[in-house]
Amino acid sequence: MAILKILKYPDSTLKKISRPVEAMTGDTVRLIQDMVETMYAAPGVGLAAPQVGALQRIIVVDIDYQNPGSNLIKLINPEIHRAEGEVVWEEGCLSVTDFTAEVKRAARVEVIGLNEQEKEVRVEAEGLLSVALQHEIDHLNGKLFIDRISRLKHELYTRRLKKMLRTGKTQPESPRLMI
Ligand code: NI
Repeated sequence: MAILKILKYPDSTLKKISRPVEAMTGDTVRLIQDMVETMYAAPGVGLAAPQVGALQRIIVVDIDYQNPGSNLIKLINPEIHRAEGEVVWEEGCLSVTDFTAEVKRAARVEVIGLNEQEKEVRVEAEGLLSVALQHEIDHLNGKLFIDRISRLKHELYTRRLKKMLRTGKTQPESPRLMI
């Protein structure tokens, strides 16, 4: 297992659409293991393959960050099958340095994907798990949470980030928000 480098906005890979996994290979299994390790090490509650430079439709989520492993979800080719209601959640992302913002999403979702044995898995979720699944599936479609906020807030952040990168000054990230 290995901890992989997490790409940060504005890396162009994060804007690309990931392709479906067509067959489970040793490489796929290794990638998923490395994604899990990278997510826990970050620390974060979710990670999508494109964030580590692999444009494949794979996500890992574990919102129970205090008990790593007990509620770990690994999904291959996940799709939102059903979405209901509306919720506003303060989101952050391992690929977006030093920024959180309120994002409006579906309150409850049902997500269908495959597990590592290529068996269908259904996940019904609400609260943080619902938000995290939608956030990670967005990553597979080249979308970040900052693409779901107002253009004004997005531009303010981009300007602040440029300044942070120039001065090398960033603030520590809050682990429980990072998805
Ligand atoms: Ni993210």
